Amino acid sequence: MTRTLTLRRPDDWHLHLRDGAMLRAVLPETSRHFGRAIVMPNLVPPVVTAADAVAYRDRILAALPEGAEFTPLMTLYLTETTDPADLRAAAQSGLITAVKLYPAGATTNSASGVRDFDKVMAVLETMAEIDLPLCVHGEVTDPAIDIFDREAVFIDTVLDPLRRRVPDLRVVMEHITTSDGVDYVSAQPDGKMGATITTHHLIIDRNHILVGGIKPHYYCLPVAKRARHRDALVAAAISGDARFFLGTDSAPHTDPNKLSVCGCAGVFSASNTMSCLAEVFDRAGALDKLEGFSSLNGPAFYGLAPNTATLTLTHGDPVSYPAHIQTEDGPVTLFDPGFPLHWRVAS
Ligand code: DOR
Ligand code: ZN
Repeated sequence: MTRTLTLRRPDDWHLHLRDGAMLRAVLPETSRHFGRAIVMPNLVPPVVTAADAVAYRDRILAALPEGAEFTPLMTLYLTETTDPADLRAAAQSGLITAVKLYPAGATTNSASGVRDFDKVMAVLETMAEIDLPLCVHGEVTDPAIDIFDREAVFIDTVLDPLRRRVPDLRVVMEHITTSDGVDYVSAQPDGKMGATITTHHLIIDRNHILVGGIKPHYYCLPVAKRARHRDALVAAAISGDARFFLGTDSAPHTDPNKLSVCGCAGVFSASNTMSCLAEVFDRAGALDKLEGFSSLNGPAFYGLAPNTATLTLTHGDPVSYPAHIQTEDGPVTLFDPGFPLHWRVAS
């Protein structure tokens, strides 16, 4: 008998849609399966003001395929000159759902991020007052800190002190990659702190990047860690703990930009994420927890209703996805989980 699984339509709580030709190419890959996505603001130049967010939202809506039922949830990029009044108005009009904190220099297009937290305290206090969540890229940028330790050090030296300074601020630690991240978030009171977990960090560990030749398509930030950290992420995702939810961090870069002497960080996983996740949860004997992770916990954290539409997956012969999607800027390689995908999203 065919196994099927029907979920509320999932959402992606951390997504890079880019702009222009790349936006037009990748947006259908997300809108096919997902009802909403938190859209990252790290464009060049970044989405900093309410006016920037309105314009970007309009470009996203204009790029949606005919008939798509997809709502972009906009974010602002926090800078040391962000105006609390502009941000407050953007939140209160419903334009934005969150604000994104990039420590300056942490990742792609993060140069305008925060260096001195004293300079953003007024904004963070405004956010706490109006209950607007802060999404955090949780890595320190100190060149002396080993790249594999940057998340754990960030928790101790930046995140925890920041949360003590603004205890009412609700924070999402984005794309956690370590058991340190899981442990920290698990220890916080419900509702104040959440964490997104990507598809690829549930599947790869650092050996996938470095063993048997360097594999740039598995390189992202935060970089994948040891297998035991990957296993801690899977345990968190399948635990049913509502603090953990899906944020794919699907981050397209063209192949020439990935396969370079200084390749870009990012894994593009929008197209096959639901098949990958079903495989991971099935292997863990936890298919019943997939709906919570991908469709319920995120809306609950953000104070939104789950989607009313559903998505059905069926189990059968391996489903094949194109290895690349084509864009006017060049091909973008799709995440390869390294195992067959038996769960197909029914059309
Ligand atoms: O791998 C990543 N790619 N990590 C990030 O934080 C940014 C993203 C991007 O924008 O390409
Ligand atoms: Zn990201």
